Amino acid sequence: ASGCKIGPSILNSDLANLGAECLRMLDSGADYLHLDAPCSSGRSVFCKHFVPNITFGHPVVESLRKQLGQDPFFDMHMMVARPEQWVKPMAVAGANQYTFHLEATENPGALIKDIRENGMKVGLAIKPGTTVEYLAPWANQIDMALVMTVEPGFGGQKFMEDMMPKVHWLRTQFPSLDIEVDGGVGPDTVHKCAEAGANMIVSGSAIMRSEDPRSVINLLRNVCSE
Ligand code: DX5
Ligand code: ZN
Repeated sequence: ASGCKIGPSILNSDLANLGAECLRMLDSGADYLHLDAPCSSGRSVFCKHFVPNITFGHPVVESLRKQLGQDPFFDMHMMVARPEQWVKPMAVAGANQYTFHLEATENPGALIKDIRENGMKVGLAIKPGTTVEYLAPWANQIDMALVMTVEPGFGGQKFMEDMMPKVHWLRTQFPSLDIEVDGGVGPDTVHKCAEAGANMIVSGSAIMRSEDPRSVINLLRNVCSE
């Protein structure tokens, strides 16, 4: 693959200084920001069924947009049940892409349409246990497929190499589709993702925990263009 985009995931950053952490990533050469929104309201009963974590929601996204200006691309990874309910609030808050989980909705087609009508790009994610063939019927209607390489919910988990056949299959079937990988991706694992055909690389702890995020981001990007 050539020309991967690198999107730091700020889930493992200092969330009390989220704006500064995002700026630090942008200053270090991030192509976009991958914002994980596991749950954002008091309706945690719904969220718990999806991932056992809560981070932040559209009010935080709105503040980030104000602080960071119009340029940074916000890829919202919506790790929520009932993703239908946050489309408009996220669009109004300034999200650029709404990435929802196939497992979380009964009507992906309607959701895709709604996301578009709200002016955002569409990302469709699958958990490790979900077969990639389920995603295929939607592939021509979306901008990006996200193949999770960990069980969603937390940063810092171990990369699941056995997800690479999914990426490879998607790349073969849909040559121009953006394919994102997320979970445990860093200098040690990125080459497998690039080889399989991913072109959008989310990396959380590998970048966040580094003293030199710029060099990690460059390294990840260079592996992709090898
Ligand atoms: C996992 C999240 C990821 C996570 C990635 O549920 O979707 O975006 O923050 O972090 P690392 O790269 O540390 O696995
Ligand atoms: Zn994510």
